[in-house]
Amino acid sequence: MTPSIPALALPSGQMVPVLGQGTWHMGDGDDARAREVASLRHGLDLGMTLIDTAEMYGDGASERVVGEAIRARREHAFVVSKVLPQHASPQGIRAACERSLHHLGIERLDLYLLHWREKDTQLPEVIATFEALKAEGRIAAWGVSNFDVADMKELLAVPGGDQVAVNQVLYSLAHRGVEFDLLPWCQANGIGVMAYSPFDEGRLLRHEGLARFAQARHLSAAQVALAFVLARRGVMAIPKAASADHTRENRDALTIQFSTQDLSALDAMFPPPRQKMPLEMI
Ligand SMILES: NC(=O)c1ccc[n+]([C@@H]2O[C@H](COP(=O)([O-])OP(=O)(O)OC[C@H]3O[C@@H](n4cnc5c(N)ncnc54)[C@H](OP(=O)(O)O)[C@@H]3O)[C@@H](O)[C@H]2O)c1
Repeated sequence: MTPSIPALALPSGQMVPVLGQGTWHMGDGDDARAREVASLRHGLDLGMTLIDTAEMYGDGASERVVGEAIRARREHAFVVSKVLPQHASPQGIRAACERSLHHLGIERLDLYLLHWREKDTQLPEVIATFEALKAEGRIAAWGVSNFDVADMKELLAVPGGDQVAVNQVLYSLAHRGVEFDLLPWCQANGIGVMAYSPFDEGRLLRHEGLARFAQARHLSAAQVALAFVLARRGVMAIPKAASADHTRENRDALTIQFSTQDLSALDAMFPPPRQKMPLEMI
């Protein structure tokens, strides 16, 4: 039997495995659909029950793939979706949430995120609507994505803002800026950090130095990249893999422990931030 994946307790009380599955670009082509569904199901079997999607991904196509993958196993999945900032009015969020639930074929989202904020995004309205959806049972918890420290402080100053469960941000060996301030700030405030694009959309896996580092330790570059972000307290990662082989390989990254020398070698290749860097996003 596969040992279970370590779980993180969100401020909402929900327990979420630290390793999940991303789904951007899933559902974009009909020919890959069966493989994508099989890959997500394989991930569920391996305990990677956190599945991230968004209304933006293929205009609902990714949510439909996720819906197919979790059919008949809803209770084993922790489903995250996101609302676009252009829909971030009270009516817009409600309509987007209903569309996402319909695409996914479920009654309630486990976590609903604001995908990013625009200049005109009204945080008090967003929070009030998320809280109302929670009270009505359409979402179990809510969070944000692509929020820097100043955004998080502003959010927490709004009534109800302290209910935020997660901030989903770009974080990988190739993008370590969050280590300077955002990650410690979220850790100090008990807010989960969900690392998206942990392979920098696949680019990291073509890095020659990382490949050599991994090979010398009988690991793959993907496993090193994942183990690196998962070594941080309060961090979950959502790599996207569209094949069962990739999914299994990613799952096996959970057993990796780096030595101090390993971490120094990674720091030499991918230097940590020495000053505040504005939050990057894809
Ligand atoms: N909130 C946001 O603004 C935001 C932005 C970007 C992404 N996201 C979320 O984060 C998820 C992950 O990010 P991402 O999709 O941008 O990129 P990623 O996870 O960094 O990289 C995905 C790429 O890595 C490949 N891959 C996965 N496992 C592999 C393995 N073991 N060996 C070799 N290649 C492997 C995939 O190939 P295959 O597909 O062929 O397996 C795919 O090409 C997204 O899917 C999405 O859910 C959120």
